[in-house]
Amino acid sequence: MVKANIGLKDKETNLCKWILETVLATEGVMEMKIRNYHWNIKWAHFNDLHSFFEEMYGTSAETIDEVAERIRMLGYEVEGNYKKFLKDSLVSEESEIWVGRKDMIQRLLADKELIITQMRKSILKIEEETDDVWTADFLTALIQSHEKNAWMLRSMMS
Ligand SMILES: [Fe+2]
Repeated sequence: MVKANIGLKDKETNLCKWILETVLATEGVMEMKIRNYHWNIKWAHFNDLHSFFEEMYGTSAETIDEVAERIRMLGYEVEGNYKKFLKDSLVSEESEIWVGRKDMIQRLLADKELIITQMRKSILKIEEETDDVWTADFLTALIQSHEKNAWMLRSMMS
């Protein structure tokens, strides 16, 4: 494999790869979790939440692809399987089929807040320890989308 010669040391790409693998795994688990809610939502608010969840898992699906491709750009291979995702993910998958509308919202909000908090630390670490502006910039855009989702979920609870 031809090594990526993009002005980053192995130590820098390694750190970014490690952070990106966690993001990949977390978004992979989130995608299926949100799809589960999209498929099983019923009764009142069906239309609103069915569409809201669809938009949210769509964002996760797009994110996965971009993150995996960034790992490749940094010169590494991508382990794309659920065994690895479940091992690396910050959030747990949904094992229940029907958890109720309020629990769906509450669980997704807790996941989003955990992701945001961790991502903020990761961005600062990348900025402090590497010159990988692509990854820092990408995660900065991603945290914006997660914070917007978190606000929407929070608003549904009050
Ligand atoms: Fe659908």
